[in-house]
Amino acid sequence: PLVITVELLSEEVNGEVVPPSSPIDPQSPVFLPSLDFIKEMLGIPEEGVRIGRVVEGYREIEVDVKLSKEALKHHVLVVGTTGAGKTNLLKVIMKNSETPLIVFDIQGDYIKPAVEMGGSIIVPVTRDYQMGITDFVDVFLKRSNLSGYKISKVEGDRLILSDGKSSFNLYLIGFRLPENYKLLPDVSPYFSPQGGEFFKIVSEDCVGKNDVIDNWENNCREIMDELGVHRETQNNIVRSVTLLSQSGIIDVSFGKGYYQEPNYEEIMKSKAVVDLRWALERGVDSATIASFLIINKIFKIIDDRYKKEGKETEYLMIFDEAHEYFPQGKREENKEPLERLINKIMRLGRVRGIGTILATHRPTDLNDLILTLTNTKVAMRADEDALKRIGMEKYSKVLSVSPPGFGIISSYTIKVNNLTFRSEKY
Ligand SMILES: Nc1ncnc2c1ncn2[C@@H]1O[C@H](COP(=O)(O)OP(=O)(O)OP(=O)(O)O)[C@@H](O)[C@H]1O
Ligand SMILES: [Mg+2]
Repeated sequence: PLVITVELLSEEVNGEVVPPSSPIDPQSPVFLPSLDFIKEMLGIPEEGVRIGRVVEGYREIEVDVKLSKEALKHHVLVVGTTGAGKTNLLKVIMKNSETPLIVFDIQGDYIKPAVEMGGSIIVPVTRDYQMGITDFVDVFLKRSNLSGYKISKVEGDRLILSDGKSSFNLYLIGFRLPENYKLLPDVSPYFSPQGGEFFKIVSEDCVGKNDVIDNWENNCREIMDELGVHRETQNNIVRSVTLLSQSGIIDVSFGKGYYQEPNYEEIMKSKAVVDLRWALERGVDSATIASFLIINKIFKIIDDRYKKEGKETEYLMIFDEAHEYFPQGKREENKEPLERLINKIMRLGRVRGIGTILATHRPTDLNDLILTLTNTKVAMRADEDALKRIGMEKYSKVLSVSPPGFGIISSYTIKVNNLTFRSEKY
C-alpha cells in the first residue's frame, strides 16, 4: 500500500479559514485543489505588497504572496545567511510598495533601484568631501556606477539628476549644530549625563543661528564658567564637542555654505534611500549619528501629526544588515541610542502608521524586544541557530539548502502556520 503523510495547513470553520485543529474523518474525499482554493485556504491577503509566489515543494505555483498593510505595520524580520536573497526581497518590496518608504543603506545596494524607480537618494556628506556640489555629484555618480546622469534641475535643496530619459532626486545633506544641539547629547556616545545636560543649557546661550561646531569652545567657555559648570564636566563637554566635530557630519561645508538637512516632509512622500556609505567610511559613529538624526526627525513629523490631528501616516522604514544598527556587546555601546530609538519606533510606530522591516544574517545580535515586536518573520536559507532565534528551527532541514529567494513566512496575519514562497527576482 502507498502511504502518504500530510501536514495540515488550515481548515474552514463557519466560513473562516483558521489553523487546523479538527481531526480528519476516515474516508474523507481527497482532491487536487484549484489555485483559487489554495489561495483561499492559505489565507493570503488580497491587498498588500506582492513579494513573490507560493511554492509547493520547490515548484512555484501561480498564487501571489503579499504582505498586507497590517503585517507591515506589525513589523517584519527577514533572516537568512549570505546570499539567501534578503536584499533582493527588500528591493522587491521597495519596488512593489505603494506606501512611501525609506531604506537605510550601508553598502550602496539600493542606489540603482532608487534611480530606476525615480526615487530620492539622501547622502549625508562628510568633511572628507568638502568640495563644490557639482564635484561631489561627480564623485557620487562614479562611485555608484551611474554614467550618463547630470544635474538637470535644482529645486531648493533637491537636485534632479537625469540621463535624458529618466530622473531621480538627490539630496546632499549635512547636520547643522544650531538645529541639532538639543539632540546631540542623546545620540552621541561621548557626553556624560551631566555633560549632556549642561551642553544643552550652555548652547542655548552661546550657539547662534550660523555658528559651527568648531567654534563652540571659543563661544561657550565663558558661559560655562558663568554658569559654574564643574571643571570635570566642562572637560567632558569640550572633549565630546571635539569628537562630534570629528564625526565629520556636522557643519559640512561645500565652499559657499553648509549642507543642510532636507525637507523631510517632501522626502516622506517618495521612495527614499539614505546612502550611508560616506558616513560609514568616516566611522561607525558617524553613520550611527546620521541615521539617528534622520529617523528622529521623521518620527517627530509623524508623531506630531498623530498627536495634533489624530492622523496616521503610512510609512515604511527598512533596515538591511539590521545587526549593524544594534550594539553587539560592551564594545559597541555607542549604538545604544540608535537601538533605543528603533525600539521606540517599533513600539509606538504601529498606531502612527509606521512599519519597519529589518533584515539580517545575524538575528542573535538583535535584542529580545525586536524579536517580540516583529510579528511577521521571514526565514530564508539559514542555519539552525539563526532559525532558533526566531522560533523557526523546525524548518532548518528545508532551509539549510534552499535556493536564493526561497523562504517561509510565519505571521499571524496569514492564516496558516507557515507559508512557503519564492520571491520575485528584482
Ligand atoms: N528570487 C530569486 N530568484 C533568483 N535569484 C535570486 C532571488 N533572490 C535572490 N537571488 C540572487 O541571489 C543572490 C544573493 O541575493 P541577495 O544579495 O539578495 O542575498 P542577501 O541575503 O542579501 O546576501 P548578503 O547577506 O550577502 O547581503 C543575488 O545574486 C540575487 O540576485
Ligand atoms: Mg544583502
